Amino acid sequence: MNVLIIGAGYVGLSMGVVLAKSHVVTLVDIDESKVAMINRKESPIHERDMDDLLADAVSRNKIRAITPAEPFGRQNLVLICVGTPSMEDGSVDLSYVNKATDMVFERIEEILDDYCVIGIKSTVPPGTTRKFVSEKVARMGYMDKLGVVFNPEFLREGSAIADATNPDRIIIGASDYKASQVLKKLYQEVLGDAANNVIVISLESAELCKYVNNAFLATKISFANEIANITERVSGADIDEVMRAVGEDSRISPKFFGSGAGYGGSCFPKDVAGLISFAEKNLGIATHVLRAIQLVNSERPARIVNLLLEELPSLKGKKVSVLGLAFKPGTDDTRESPALKIIDLLHEHGAEVWAHDPLVHEMDLGNLAKKAQLTDNLEECLNNSAACVLVTEWEEYIQRGLAGLTELMQGNLLIDGRRVFTDAEIPESVSYRTIGQS
Ligand code: UDX
Ligand code: UDX
Repeated sequence: MNVLIIGAGYVGLSMGVVLAKSHVVTLVDIDESKVAMINRKESPIHERDMDDLLADAVSRNKIRAITPAEPFGRQNLVLICVGTPSMEDGSVDLSYVNKATDMVFERIEEILDDYCVIGIKSTVPPGTTRKFVSEKVARMGYMDKLGVVFNPEFLREGSAIADATNPDRIIIGASDYKASQVLKKLYQEVLGDAANNVIVISLESAELCKYVNNAFLATKISFANEIANITERVSGADIDEVMRAVGEDSRISPKFFGSGAGYGGSCFPKDVAGLISFAEKNLGIATHVLRAIQLVNSERPARIVNLLLEELPSLKGKKVSVLGLAFKPGTDDTRESPALKIIDLLHEHGAEVWAHDPLVHEMDLGNLAKKAQLTDNLEECLNNSAACVLVTEWEEYIQRGLAGLTELMQGNLLIDGRRVFTDAEIPESVSYRTIGQS
């Protein structure tokens, strides 16, 4: 199949290199430097297995990147993967999706051979695919020649390739049977048996299901974090013991019960806010549970800093080391990372903040350097510091262990914001605090 992907970001590029195993993929992006990098076999994002797959696909002429100024060529499928960021009030900014769909319809004669499916993969509120795609197809009178789908992605940054290759299920919101079959065939040709679990539903159900999926995972995390607040006050109780035992109930599952600094990234915060905005503004429906999820998550950075303040009530002029800037390990993405809020709070308390991340040089950190010294040298970050706060569970920190991390410090206080050392023996020399334990 010939597949045109609009938007070569995390989702577009990850899907692109996986689909290129069996199909011919053209990636379109407005960012010329990104396009040039991809064609040079250099990945613009840090993602496991990406470099090899990209190099292989470019060498086999199965993937190429272009700007919208170049010809698109005939396509069997168009997948729109541009970003859908949150606006200030939490509602979803659909301007990129609007622009991308307009562009596809303006150039439909160039793209269309006998039949083509136009799909949205970006996360969009229910009704968007019908309004931006189906209605335009109907107005043009192209219902026989153009199918419409909404096909959500469930790719985690850091394991996007593995998730795309081995999906739990593939959800296809489709305008009709023929369109759904094109998508089924697309995935079955690449993934074989791994594409057997296909769920075909309406466009609106598929759009809603993406929000509900992420909102439910965020619910599990905030729920575990709230229970962690409780276990901190129950002598003898431990949050991981509680959630592990609860998760063994097959109706519940232990996954995504990890308590700590809270969820960040480009999806959970945006999608919870997007679902709230859709329900409240578009439908007039109150969202008590969803708002509580946000509230609990927003309190996490302060709770981590409070653990530190309980041990060191004044941070003025003291060097404090923050370990990890990425919103989770395995990625250079710092969007909505709890580390950024923790740095803000430490800075407000007058601490001299140092922050380490192994990928700091690949990160887009705005004016963070005004609040913290940023480094990829762990020893420099820890040297002579009064305390250290672990925010992102990079393997490098786990490998060093508690004694290894604290030996260079002046003080010996380590705040474990991700509970990575809860099973380790705590050396006498280390003062250790973590969440969810009294
Ligand atoms: C995606 C989604 O589409 C979002 O809805 C979903 O919830 C998460 O994943 P992501 O791949 O993370 O977003 O976005 P990003 O990495 O920002 O990439 C978007 C790409 O689209 C960028 O490369 C950008 O240059 C490109 N783009 C944007 C266009 O080509 N045209 C535009 O008009 C706008
Ligand atoms: C998420 C979805 O999981 C994925 O399906 C897709 O829709 C995109 O959004 P991603 O944001 O890349 O993926 O990362 P994920 O692994 O889901 O973690 C999100 C955040 O939750 C991270 O900040 C992580 O540290 C946090 N988290 C995760 C916890 O705090 N506890 C957990 O148990 C799991």
